[in-house]
Amino acid sequence: MIYFLNTIVFNPKKYYFCIGFSFGKLRGGKGCNEIWKLFIIKNIGGFIMLKNRSLIDPSDFTREEFREIFDLGHQIIANPEKYSKSCEGKILATLFYEPSTRTRLSFETAMLRLGGQVIGFSEAASSSTAKGESIADTLRTVECYADIAAMRHPKEGAPRLASHYIHMPLINAGDGGHQHPTQTLTDILTIERLRGNVENKTYGFCGDLKFGRTVHSLVKFLSNYEGVRFIFISPEELRVPEYIREEVVRKKGIPFEEVDQMEPYMNQLDFLYMTRVQRERFFNEEDYIRLKDRFILDKEKMSYARPDTYILHPLPRVNEISTEVDDDPRAQYFQQAKNGMYVRMALILKLLGIY
Ligand code: CP
Repeated sequence: MIYFLNTIVFNPKKYYFCIGFSFGKLRGGKGCNEIWKLFIIKNIGGFIMLKNRSLIDPSDFTREEFREIFDLGHQIIANPEKYSKSCEGKILATLFYEPSTRTRLSFETAMLRLGGQVIGFSEAASSSTAKGESIADTLRTVECYADIAAMRHPKEGAPRLASHYIHMPLINAGDGGHQHPTQTLTDILTIERLRGNVENKTYGFCGDLKFGRTVHSLVKFLSNYEGVRFIFISPEELRVPEYIREEVVRKKGIPFEEVDQMEPYMNQLDFLYMTRVQRERFFNEEDYIRLKDRFILDKEKMSYARPDTYILHPLPRVNEISTEVDDDPRAQYFQQAKNGMYVRMALILKLLGIY
């Protein structure tokens, strides 16, 4: 309740969220200690305390807290052996209500490489959701077995809701067309490894910017850094959602352009973040077919890019990057997928309070 009242004073826009949040905590059985902890973390600041926290949205952690995760990610890459037994006796649950290759397998590999173990399901049909079990009951049950969980769900907000019913850390592994914060961790670690830091750079985002949750999370994250500039390249129908453009980018005074051509902007970019057109989120197959081939990055388009423009993609790709680009040293999307495992190792260690 203190967190609730405090947030009304300090951040009226979270008023409605907090009502739900407070009731959720009470119904979910979290005691005053937990609410006090959140009060301290959110409003007093200066505390670096990631243990037992959930990561649902990039705005859940401060810049300093993310810095801790990235620093540990770089250290793990430098010396993975040092961490190979860090999670002995710990169990990660992967609860995937939607398909995944990279996110689920990199989470599972991350835990295995830390010496821990993994349980979970990779589709709702193989869990008791198929019999009508609620998310709350599933999560309360999983908490009886695991120390930490990663959850992907087709419904926006499902991981946030789920986090209110449990005490263990929960990681949003992608919720509908909303957010995908651990892909953002992956992207930022990759940017840092390629160019040292994220500041003072121009980022191009191309493709399905409407449904692409990885874009929403990354833009939200980058908007907290100095000197960033965005070029959003998409068909009119697939532009970034208004809440991202107005509430995040414009509100923070970030320079940006929304354009529908790729070539004229290629030589301005430090990073080009390609995305696939998200067929599964279209209401209408005709619209998908009309838009799916609008932007395809091939060798010819790469010739417009600078020698130091790196190409990122959260993957999976369909056809938006021609395979002939894969051998170009500027194409970094498979290394990006590998970095995802390292940064998820760092995240697990931090949320379990082991490092
Ligand atoms: N980048 C990403 O989320 O890939 P998956 O859907 O394969 O997990």
